[in-house]
Amino acid sequence: MNFNTIDDAIVQQLTSIVGAKYVLFDKEAFEKYGRDETEDLVFYPEVVVIPKTPQEIAEILKLCNAANIAVTPRGAGTGLSGGALPINKGVLLSMERFNAIIEIDERNLQATIEPGVITQVFQEAVQEKGLFYPPDPASKGSCFIGGNLAENSGGPKAVKYGVTNDYVLNLEVVLPTGDIIWTGANVLKNSTGYNLTQLMIGSEGTLGIITKAVFRLIPYPPHDLLMLVPFYSAEEACAAVSAIFRAGITPSGMEFMERDALIWGAEYIGDESLQIPESIQAHLLIEVDGHNKEVLYNECETIHKVLEGFNCDEILFAEDATQKDKLWKIRRVVGEAVKVKSIYKEEDTVVPRAELPILLKAVKDIGSAYGFKSVCYGHAGDGNLHINIIKDDMSDDDWNNKLSGGIREIFETCVKLKGTISGEHGIGYVQKDYMNIPFSTVEISLQKDIKQLFDPNGILNPGKVFN
Ligand code: LAC
Ligand code: ZN
Repeated sequence: MNFNTIDDAIVQQLTSIVGAKYVLFDKEAFEKYGRDETEDLVFYPEVVVIPKTPQEIAEILKLCNAANIAVTPRGAGTGLSGGALPINKGVLLSMERFNAIIEIDERNLQATIEPGVITQVFQEAVQEKGLFYPPDPASKGSCFIGGNLAENSGGPKAVKYGVTNDYVLNLEVVLPTGDIIWTGANVLKNSTGYNLTQLMIGSEGTLGIITKAVFRLIPYPPHDLLMLVPFYSAEEACAAVSAIFRAGITPSGMEFMERDALIWGAEYIGDESLQIPESIQAHLLIEVDGHNKEVLYNECETIHKVLEGFNCDEILFAEDATQKDKLWKIRRVVGEAVKVKSIYKEEDTVVPRAELPILLKAVKDIGSAYGFKSVCYGHAGDGNLHINIIKDDMSDDDWNNKLSGGIREIFETCVKLKGTISGEHGIGYVQKDYMNIPFSTVEISLQKDIKQLFDPNGILNPGKVFN
């Protein structure tokens, strides 16, 4: 794709749209806005623009369309697939000033917010009113709702409550052409026309820029119980996951951590309280929540009974809120903990839940064949396994030239098991070469036609999702 570079005349027009304070082109800004949380990738934009209103975004997009300039939208930069990296230079459009919670509608259990609101800030605001917005990616303390919408983020609670798209009723979107639209209505049922709301979610900033979102909310479940279950075999831990669901329990968290994932997470937060015997290969972190404590105790008993059929060590029940917080913190920092240990690549595989043991075994077998180690963890209840491939003592040549073959085999295994290649991190920049594994040529060209329809000149987040 050939885009024009930004000249003084364009900078002047951008400045007249948003004001000089919100047009940045110093090295410090490029360092900050040129990277996200995807490996160590960095791409400098030519200019960072920070608008405040949908109308300003419309003006920017019209200008860039006319001048053939690439525009990369960005939330908080916590993405793991490089979706917010300005790989074609041009304008980096930061959504950070769209940070208003416009309305929490307690009559209808809905909220209307801007996309630059931090997920946890939104959760806490609705919780004050006894309401619950469940999607909780590991980065919830810093990620923006807009990024969650762009990637259709999940997190641990998804297993019971669903992912971002399960809570979205309606979106205000600025199209690449500069038109401002609403995709749906603020209703719980809607069979009126094509579902543009759901098309936008997970489109990774390639179809339009979301400027407002209307969410449905549910009553906040005030009680929860948490247990950490050690297993002698990682595959068996994975097998226990589907057995618990088959017993009629839907936990509000069902997380898998291989031995090193838990140890590295604990190390990362400086916790030395967990003693993990040499023989333990993996853990399940299982949470149940709800409105009635008695029901939760009964559910834990059922889970306990199911686990008696598996080879696990003594279960740790979290005693109080502090211990619960600590265990969840360890789980949430695993991704960051891996980063400080080694050069790594992170894959976000997903298969039907009961196929998880087969996937895990395949990952290890493929690793042995290609000479890489991996640390696996993730949302086991959703069949969503995060695979961190560790460079460790692999040669640069093997890492740079052969590893992609191993990744391809892992993804092919997912698809054979009726799964796919990303559950919640998106395709973005780093996985697009693998899109021909889950999709046929016809399926890909249908998606490309949709992109073309929304963005005829291909200026919006170019080079993402597809090649
Ligand atoms: C997690 C992120 C990496 O589950 O999705 O920790
Ligand atoms: Zn995750």
